[in-house]
Amino acid sequence: MIRFEQVNFSYEDETQILHDVTLQIPNCSTLALLGASGSGKSTLFHVLLGLLKPQSGRVLVDDMDIVPLKERKLTEVRRRMGVVFQDGALFDSLTVGENVSFHMRECMDLSEEEMEARVQEGLDYVGLGHAMDMMPGELSGGMRRRVAVARAMAAFQPAIMLYDEPTSGLDPITADTICDLIRKVSTEECLTSIIITHRLKDAFKVADRVALFKDGRVYYEGTPESLMDSDDEYIQRFVA
Ligand SMILES: Nc1ncnc2c1ncn2[C@@H]1O[C@H](COP(=O)(O)OP(=O)(O)O)[C@@H](O)[C@H]1O
Ligand SMILES: [Mg+2]
Repeated sequence: MIRFEQVNFSYEDETQILHDVTLQIPNCSTLALLGASGSGKSTLFHVLLGLLKPQSGRVLVDDMDIVPLKERKLTEVRRRMGVVFQDGALFDSLTVGENVSFHMRECMDLSEEEMEARVQEGLDYVGLGHAMDMMPGELSGGMRRRVAVARAMAAFQPAIMLYDEPTSGLDPITADTICDLIRKVSTEECLTSIIITHRLKDAFKVADRVALFKDGRVYYEGTPESLMDSDDEYIQRFVA
């Protein structure tokens, strides 16, 4: 379970970005985080990862407030989180296989054979079993996102997955296949996930609940269906 309780956050210039954010993501469920660009969505991820400290509020991961934790403890908490950064963010000078094994190599004590087997397993899982020795530059946008998912999953077998705009810049059909992959990963592994997205369709495909951010506030929280049905003017404009 992830819980944000009245989280307030400002960057160093003191402009407040997150205002009293309260959100709850039960275990094995997926929240889609919607909102205009600049509304604070990525900032919330950084707070959850402990990369940014809120000025007030609590951020609970399985009932433990991570805000006061020191770096060593935070590293342990982060190990349980797989992150797919915006645009897939692969290391372009490494092969696909090296990308997927990157964190494993850093943090786990595995033999080369074990590592290779896990990388192959991860790539098979995302439908890229043949791509181990390819370079990121040779991949399409959709394939890059798949590699990013495999990398996030492979390292620590996380309980929590965070996706920052995993479908942005993809054509609608490829975006759908990435959503299908996210759905598969979440249900089969019983993961607790947050997906930041611009596409309402993504929310319908993958999410149990949606939260709509407006200027760093949770403007709406509910099911994707009830968001569609809302007669609030801002929501209607957003949904259109
Ligand atoms: N490092 C930073 N320092 C100051 N302001 C920032 C920084 N990063 C982001 N911001 C500002 O915080 C706001 C929210 O950004 P962000 O969380 O990236 O929004 P979103 O992901 O919803 O597009 C924006 O106005 C952005 O300009
Ligand atoms: Mg963002």
